[in-house]
Amino acid sequence: MGVELDLHEVDATGEEALVALGEGQFDAVVSNMALMDMAEVEPLMRVATRLLRPGGRFVFSISHPVFNSGHWQWVHEAEDRGGELVETRAVKIWDYLQPSAELGIGIVGQPVQRFHMHCPFGLLLKPAFDAGFVLDAFEEHGSPPGMGSTSGRPHSWSNYPLIPSALIVRLKRAAQHWPPSRRPSTSCSARSTSSAKSISVHARSPTST
Ligand SMILES: C[S@@+](CC[C@H](N)C(=O)[O-])C[C@H]1O[C@@H](n2cnc3c(N)ncnc32)[C@H](O)[C@@H]1O
Repeated sequence: MGVELDLHEVDATGEEALVALGEGQFDAVVSNMALMDMAEVEPLMRVATRLLRPGGRFVFSISHPVFNSGHWQWVHEAEDRGGELVETRAVKIWDYLQPSAELGIGIVGQPVQRFHMHCPFGLLLKPAFDAGFVLDAFEEHGSPPGMGSTSGRPHSWSNYPLIPSALIVRLKRAAQHWPPSRRPSTSCSARSTSSAKSISVHARSPTST
């Protein structure tokens, strides 16, 4: 039994193109490991609630906004504790609250660098809450030892299994929409002043349930 898919390619930073996919037509919006590579996330956060039917969900995974985003370093230390060599693996973080866009690599050896956009978690979710989403669930994932293509390398997330490198979030359209918070805040779209280019998204068409 085949499933018919209607494939569209749109820039997920373009609010109008996203709305044109069909307001109130979708049961779910899914984004897998893409938001941190996008020049702006606010348009998608704002629009996703309009694309969904009542009760619809927006599920996305991202590099963990605290431990694997913006300014961070792996820290590997060893100390003699009473004659026993004890190793500690940690992550050092600085300037967390500052949105940023910086060139870097996602995979060792990749031929071209790409921008990584850092948005503190509260700022990432604010436009979604303002648009009428509520946080329904989230999970933090570390890489189990031995997992992944970089396993065995000294610098690999699989050496830090108890520090989550990825975050998965489920947002739900709220039954009642509270007015956006009046609290002034920096916007993560400030990141788009970088020369980061937006690319494309394959959006699923409305599906029957
Ligand atoms: C790390 S890859 C993840 C790809 C895929 N979802 C996966 O899990 O393998 C990030 C993706 O974000 C997409 N992307 C970046 N900016 C985008 C934008 N403005 N609109 C749509 N997609 C974008 C890129 O095309 C790229 O495919």
